[in-house]
Amino acid sequence: MTKKLLFLLDTDPAPSVFDTVVGYDGGADHVIGYGGVTLENVGALVDGAIYTRGPKEKQFTAIFVGGGNIVAGEAVFEAVKKRFFSNFRVSVMLDSNGSNTTAAAGVALLAKAKPLAGKKAVVLAGTGPVGMRAAAMLHIEGAEVAITSRSKQSAEAASKAINDRFGFTPAAIGAADNAARAAAVKGAHIVFAAGGIGVPLLDEKDWQDDPTIEMLADCNAQPPVGIGGVDPFDKAKERHGKIVIGALGLGGLKLKLHRACVGQLFESSEQVFDAENIYAQAKALA
Ligand SMILES: NC(=O)c1ccc[n+]([C@@H]2O[C@H](COP(=O)([O-])OP(=O)(O)OC[C@H]3O[C@@H](n4cnc5c(N)ncnc54)[C@H](OP(=O)(O)O)[C@@H]3O)[C@@H](O)[C@H]2O)c1
Repeated sequence: MTKKLLFLLDTDPAPSVFDTVVGYDGGADHVIGYGGVTLENVGALVDGAIYTRGPKEKQFTAIFVGGGNIVAGEAVFEAVKKRFFSNFRVSVMLDSNGSNTTAAAGVALLAKAKPLAGKKAVVLAGTGPVGMRAAAMLHIEGAEVAITSRSKQSAEAASKAINDRFGFTPAAIGAADNAARAAAVKGAHIVFAAGGIGVPLLDEKDWQDDPTIEMLADCNAQPPVGIGGVDPFDKAKERHGKIVIGALGLGGLKLKLHRACVGQLFESSEQVFDAENIYAQAKALA
């Protein structure tokens, strides 16, 4: 039986432990991680994947691009695809820091709870991999999207990067602290918190009585959580009359989706998984 080999090409110095575990749980027989992957060294890694097996076995080799920087991940992902020609190709997935799978799980659960079209959505700390993908997926659902950052400049840079990839520019808001983020969510219907692990972004008092906020999702499971008053296990739970999703509430779907995508990488040598089709799968699984 030909072994299923998953090559983790990580733009961080060390390949992700999380992605390694989910690679095995998704069905790979071996997960081989490379850290420090750049545009300069990725070509030789791809060549090793595409030239080594015959047409019938090639589907059992696949590439997963990860790392903490989604812009670097996107560039490596593009370089991987560019290296393919004719049937010298293998399946490939982009999920820097769980960006696509985490954002897809969160937005799909929100969309399952209520239609998002025409709603105002604010992605708090929307400059990281998860927040940037969440902004894109909220836009796919027809929401009007803004992202915040502690620095207006970083918000603008992320907004531009989102436009480069998805062709829309979320409003960029500089919000240095919880008070500024409380002001940023005024008038919004949806709040999606995508801040770094263990970083509180919004206090409970700043959303519980808000007249417009209808739904909140928080990706950060480690206390203190991103949105005060959200329990990590909440999964479309009603709190203060609003629908609330916590990091572990969406984490179950994220893991299911991540594993399902890895499994599908080995079904043919032509799968290409990124935001749009990962989001479509999240909606089907939600
Ligand atoms: N639930 C799940 O299944 C799951 C899966 C994967 C990831 N996650 C979680 O998803 C969240 C987002 O992941 P990510 O990789 O996109 O995050 P990240 O890149 O580490 O951080 C996102 C943003 O948080 C902001 N931030 C960092 N430290 C801050 C601080 N002290 N105060 C205020 N803002 C701060 C930064 O924005 P600015 O510098 O622009 O302000 C940063 O760009 C993390 O909490 C991660 O643990 C959850």
